Amino acid sequence: PNQPWIAPSILSADFARLGEEVKAVLDAGADTVHFDVMDNHYVPNLTIGPLVCEALRKYGITAPIDVHLMVKPVDRIVPDFAAAGASWISFHPEASEHVDRTIGLIREHGCHPGIVLNPATPLNALDYVLDKVDMVLLMSVNPGFGGQKFIPSALTKLKKVREMIAASGRDIRLQIDGGVKVDNIGEIAAAGADTFVAGSAIFGSKDYRKTIADMRSEIAK
Ligand code: DX5
Ligand code: ZN
Repeated sequence: PNQPWIAPSILSADFARLGEEVKAVLDAGADTVHFDVMDNHYVPNLTIGPLVCEALRKYGITAPIDVHLMVKPVDRIVPDFAAAGASWISFHPEASEHVDRTIGLIREHGCHPGIVLNPATPLNALDYVLDKVDMVLLMSVNPGFGGQKFIPSALTKLKKVREMIAASGRDIRLQIDGGVKVDNIGEIAAAGADTFVAGSAIFGSKDYRKTIADMRSEIAK
């Protein structure tokens, strides 16, 4: 299995001081930065795009940037994010007309492709694509907002996807996103996740380093 990664979602960061906030969570022990892109069309909220990703790179952020696209259409923004310094790009299959093509496009542009399943999206969305992605992201809230409550059925789903990944024999990260806290991250890890997005739990805490360390010790239990 992969080393666990803690991926703070910058959706809950102080956007007026974004560069400092990203540096602070990385200095505090985060492995990557989760970059939530919302378009007020596929999801009911509007956030940040490639310009902000590029600005973080120019500010000196060298850690992997994990871009979570909640936009429709997907394809036309992929090259821009790759050029802006994205490392991983994940998208929702419902937002792409040609899922296989989008995966190929992300890889052609030098990024790791990921596929995102909403809480009610069935696992057969992974048929014919699991062998082509580097990450599966399971949403444990409906996409659009930070600070929502973890939907417990995501645990069952994690276990099933963990088995599918094992059967594939490929190195695929299994990411969970939404409502991840210090007090539930242990059972989420036990269900098979290796990549943990946490927005409000980290940026809403006083001491990022302590929160991330507490999360790691719960994962290791
Ligand atoms: C929701 C986003 C999440 C969100 C998680 O659409 O994809 O990444 O920021 O926030 P928390 O950890 O507060 O649930
Ligand atoms: Zn996200």
